[in-house]
Amino acid sequence: MTGRLYGIGLGPGDPELITVKAMRLIQSVPVISYFAKAGRRGNARGIADPWMTGKASELPLYYPMTTEHAFDSPVYVATLAKFYEESVAALAAHLDAGQDVALLAEGDPLFYGSFMHLYIRLRGCYPVTLVPGVTGMAGCWSVAGEPMTWGDDTMAVLPGTLSAEALAERLRGTDAAVIMKLGRNFAKVRAAVAEAGLLDRAIYVERGTMADELVMKLAEKTDGQAPYFSLILIPGQGRRP
Ligand SMILES: C[S@@+](CC[C@H](N)C(=O)[O-])C[C@H]1O[C@@H](n2cnc3c(N)ncnc32)[C@H](O)[C@@H]1O
Repeated sequence: MTGRLYGIGLGPGDPELITVKAMRLIQSVPVISYFAKAGRRGNARGIADPWMTGKASELPLYYPMTTEHAFDSPVYVATLAKFYEESVAALAAHLDAGQDVALLAEGDPLFYGSFMHLYIRLRGCYPVTLVPGVTGMAGCWSVAGEPMTWGDDTMAVLPGTLSAEALAERLRGTDAAVIMKLGRNFAKVRAAVAEAGLLDRAIYVERGTMADELVMKLAEKTDGQAPYFSLILIPGQGRRP
């Protein structure tokens, strides 16, 4: 009998926004694994912290790099592929020994996240249970207090890694939008929102639902910088009575 892999969504940051099922598994699975930058605890492990019992063995997976290489450069792709293979082997060693492993994921595990890279390599070999989580964007539109989609509004979810031209074009073709992965892309993304004529409607949310969250109009954010955990909301204005 092999162990079971659990992909556990932990929600947007506030530890109280995890599900009852996620909490139960965090407290019962013998091996807890998570991604982190070298020397750091990692955001997902931080969200789980209040619920950890101290009984599980921990298996941190440290990224070999973060921003030194462009994400489409051959060295980045090769280094990350090797990292994922090594991470799969580390998890498989526990699963082959019959131990269940919980791999933590910030937000939802199947929505833009490293979890998916291990999941697609492991799902053919081991039983898997997926536990959905509140997405970062849902946490952010709750703290912003803005309804996002009305009636027949469409909503686009856009990564800030797209070019300014692609972002502006997609923004012109949708009623509502969420733009993720700001960080070093922030200035380009803000310019694209302005180019699409949406600056006055756009809301910037940093570390939504976390202790140091920040919500402000994008038009008023003029410092040109944003951390990784930030996104932009463009609420729809569709049909309403
Ligand atoms: C790799 S994606 C992970 C998405 C996650 N799996 C989810 O379900 O939301 C990371 C991006 O999600 C966005 N994000 C996630 N949580 C956030 C939060 N609490 N506040 C602001 N942005 C957040 C940011 O744009 C960040 O760059």
